[in-house]
Amino acid sequence: MSVLVEVQGLKVYFPVRRFLKTVGVVKAVDGVSVALEKGETLALVGESGCGKTTFGKALLGAVKPFAGKIYFDGQEINSVDDRQLEAIKRRIGAVFQDPYSSLNPMFTIYRIVEEPLVVHGIGSPKDRKETVFKALEDVKLVPAEDFAYKYPHMISGGQRQRVAIARAIISRPEFIVADEPVTMLDASIRVEILLLLREIQRKLGLTMVYITHDIATAKYFSDRIAVMYAGKFVELGPTKDVLKNPSHPYTQALIDAIPDPDPRNRLSFRKVVGGEPPSLINPPSGCRFHPRCPFFMQGKCDASEPPLYSVGPDRFTACFLAEHQS
Ligand SMILES: Nc1ncnc2c1ncn2[C@@H]1O[C@H](COP(=O)(O)OP(=O)(O)OP(=O)(O)O)[C@@H](O)[C@H]1O
Ligand SMILES: [Mg+2]
Repeated sequence: MSVLVEVQGLKVYFPVRRFLKTVGVVKAVDGVSVALEKGETLALVGESGCGKTTFGKALLGAVKPFAGKIYFDGQEINSVDDRQLEAIKRRIGAVFQDPYSSLNPMFTIYRIVEEPLVVHGIGSPKDRKETVFKALEDVKLVPAEDFAYKYPHMISGGQRQRVAIARAIISRPEFIVADEPVTMLDASIRVEILLLLREIQRKLGLTMVYITHDIATAKYFSDRIAVMYAGKFVELGPTKDVLKNPSHPYTQALIDAIPDPDPRNRLSFRKVVGGEPPSLINPPSGCRFHPRCPFFMQGKCDASEPPLYSVGPDRFTACFLAEHQS
């Protein structure tokens, strides 16, 4: 296997301004490293505001890192020239949370799906027509003629997300960032769309980052999970192992908060873990999870930051409980 995307020590900071003065920085991503093998899907999981979208945007070259490097197929995306960056972007696709606002309401489905080919100057109009119809079939919008000339408001939310996926795969990218692709959809069609994404990922051999706040959905198609808390990865490992045997108390809490099929046994995440997500401007000292952690060790967890300990094959956890295991 070879690595397609490599992130080294990534930090993305945003200035906080009041009355034109910078009064602090939001450390949205604060020192993250990971390497993605070709064909692998990584689920990035964590609470709202922990930095998931910012991480995804950095991978897409849409925000500039404060520090660290991102390599795509060996090229560092923030040190190439504009022409090289365009060539890299052609090889990367994105699917966002809200299929309605990400699709131009004035364009037909045909034009929306064709657009990346036009922007990148791929194929003649005749070739493009064939490619667009094929992409609509790939996402099961069939017969394609029935959908191609409709406008986004004329189709359902699930169908709109299928259009967004068709647009993302049309220029045959090698890497896709899917940021909460099913969050806005009706619960009944979420699994359907996730299974479609998995089918396409396998068929095209795509490398993928699947961003979600819902750890339960990671099991549908990710090979590995990265659990993010306050701008950092706190756990990283194969999906099955992490879900079965989480090694970080935060991951455990996310799993405990997965709704039980029996409503009487349901606990909200807040009840399981308590407290509020931390500020990214003044994060807690030491382990950022320590104020909410049931295993908090005074003088230890608040004094220094736990490194990512190795706790098994391909498994890492940033928790002092694992200090003597590794
Ligand atoms: N352009 C920006 N300028 C300033 N702050 C930003 C910007 N983008 C994101 N942030 C801040 O960075 C932090 C992380 O935001 P991000 O959108 O990456 O979180 P997230 O994990 O995707 O959350 P959600 O689950 O709600 O989508 C938040 O505190 C957010 O307010
Ligand atoms: Mg987000």
